[in-house]
Amino acid sequence: MELLRRPRRNRKNAAIRAMVAENTLSVNDFIFPMFVMEGKKTKQEIKSMPGIYRFSLDELLIELKEVVSLGIKCICLFPNYPESKKDKFASESIIAETLYLEAIRQVKSAYPDLMIMTDVAMDPYSSDGHDGIVEDGKILNDETVEILCDMAVAQAEAGADIIGPSDMMDGRIGEIREALDDADFTEVSIMAYTAKYASAFYGPFRDALDSAPKFGDKKTYQMDPANVNEAIMEADLDFDEGADMMMVKPAFSYLDVIRALNQNYDIPIAAYNVSGEYAMIKAAAQNGWIDGEKAMMEMLLSMKRAGASIILTYFAKEAAAILKNR
Ligand code: PBG
Repeated sequence: MELLRRPRRNRKNAAIRAMVAENTLSVNDFIFPMFVMEGKKTKQEIKSMPGIYRFSLDELLIELKEVVSLGIKCICLFPNYPESKKDKFASESIIAETLYLEAIRQVKSAYPDLMIMTDVAMDPYSSDGHDGIVEDGKILNDETVEILCDMAVAQAEAGADIIGPSDMMDGRIGEIREALDDADFTEVSIMAYTAKYASAFYGPFRDALDSAPKFGDKKTYQMDPANVNEAIMEADLDFDEGADMMMVKPAFSYLDVIRALNQNYDIPIAAYNVSGEYAMIKAAAQNGWIDGEKAMMEMLLSMKRAGASIILTYFAKEAAAILKNR
């Protein structure tokens, strides 16, 4: 064949493939979500997420030694509370001695250079298992934001570097930014959960926190998987309200949304590689149906290619270890 252009020339060996690679993964891209629970010397594996644990605070501090030594620079911490600590108003969330705030303080003092992203939402503390105050079966938007502002300030006081308002309701970023600034936390960042879809891929996470909704679903606040224009509108709002970074969640079924936000906004876009995505790869790999490591790296790289500069992923440790040995 007479072919002027033979694209295969640029694939002829590993060196040239590495040279022409358009995207790469780095440990700097990762945020590692972790779960903290009450108690001592406890480490419970989450059934639907092999390799991921809920740690009591003492165990979390031990585990972090390894996380930091792998080069991971940021964790996203979530608390698991017993039913007895939950109520309609998430009152537990702002008590100074509560597990979550204590965990933030202790992690920060043991690992000052490790960044902590925190979760601002009612669901881990809500007896209704919803992200907002529930009244007559409705999830209240405006009434809930005050609780979230108090939570954000309490977390900033404890040492949070990045606040992650994850309830996907309206007007969060502006109000929380103002509350943080009023309390002199102008340096604390906000990562907006800009396009968070009402997804079946959160199942294992809700197992981890025992936080599944007690009635109904989250479709009146989380987005419809059918929509992408709406994600741009949400991004307009979050950008104008002062978000420092914007997230798309889940990531793998929403690469087009990541791309849309990356093309339209000049702030970093984060992809949340959620629990269900992790569980699918682990389950298939355990069955011998796919090569788990390769599938993991391919999945993470697809998020970079789509335009994410930050990836929240339960694979952070495993991927970091592979990248270290390359
Ligand atoms: C809730 C929250 C959820 C996740 C992060 N924060 C679940 C939900 O909206 O019910 C899911 C993360 C994951 O699946 O890994 N505020």
